[in-house]
Amino acid sequence: MTPILQAAALLRDSHRPVFFTGAGVSQESGIPTFRDAQVGLWARYAPEDLATPEAFERQPKLVHGFYEYRRKLIRQCVPNAAHRAIAALEKTKPEVRVVTQNVDGFHRTAGSTHVIEVHGDIFLDRCNDECAGLHPHDEPTEEPGICPRCGDRTMRPAVIWFGEMLDQTVWSAAVQAVEACDLMVMIGTSGLVYPAAGLPREVLRAGKPLIEINPEETPMSSSVTLHLRGRAAEVLPEVVELALQR
Ligand code: OAD
Repeated sequence: MTPILQAAALLRDSHRPVFFTGAGVSQESGIPTFRDAQVGLWARYAPEDLATPEAFERQPKLVHGFYEYRRKLIRQCVPNAAHRAIAALEKTKPEVRVVTQNVDGFHRTAGSTHVIEVHGDIFLDRCNDECAGLHPHDEPTEEPGICPRCGDRTMRPAVIWFGEMLDQTVWSAAVQAVEACDLMVMIGTSGLVYPAAGLPREVLRAGKPLIEINPEETPMSSSVTLHLRGRAAEVLPEVVELALQR
């Protein structure tokens, strides 16, 4: 049986699949991944210059501009067949959960309803002094917004920066979804950034099947149950279609 058919059989028999996704699942929508050297965002920026609390303290307008650049790019893109395949599967398997490291919101836009965004949402702001809640950031602005509560010009993207802790409520939801799952499909992630990268390892520790979809090898590839070498928008729709065939 080919790996694609094996993956489809595992997905068909699953009742509580979790899709763990990274930047690679949005790559075919036109959003560069973090580490793909030829187009990756980091290829042009030093991460410590932009996606850290220190960078925002030091150069708030530069960091703000970087996130406006990313929001503008995302607004010009749409979810792809991989996002849509996961959303479609939910109609047959309502227990589907998505745990994503992406902040583009594309899983929700595609129609998935149980999405856990462990690294936040780029279209939400919060006060850098953490004195206010989350506020939509729908329109581009020239500089960081003013916090409605403390009045300081300290509104920043509600995303997790390097060196920051994840939101504990969100993280607990992700851990619970992974503990409850009977299968994980890991798509488009290099599996390098913790604690998120610990989730697929937890699936293996629990003796549950782990399918990886990635055109490249990753540190997880030698341990996963099945590694489907290919692009998310090509491979995943085929696996889901085969899984839904009776
Ligand atoms: P990376 O850029 O580290 O990895 C992207 C992965 O997607 C790589 O393994 C690629 O081989 C793969 N890939 C590229 N194109 C693909 C395609 N069309 N289909 C499937 N896979 C493809 O991105 P992440 O693993 O998501 O953290 O990075 C994790 C975290 O590192 C991000 O959430 C971000 C970054 O620091 C924060 O922002 C806190």
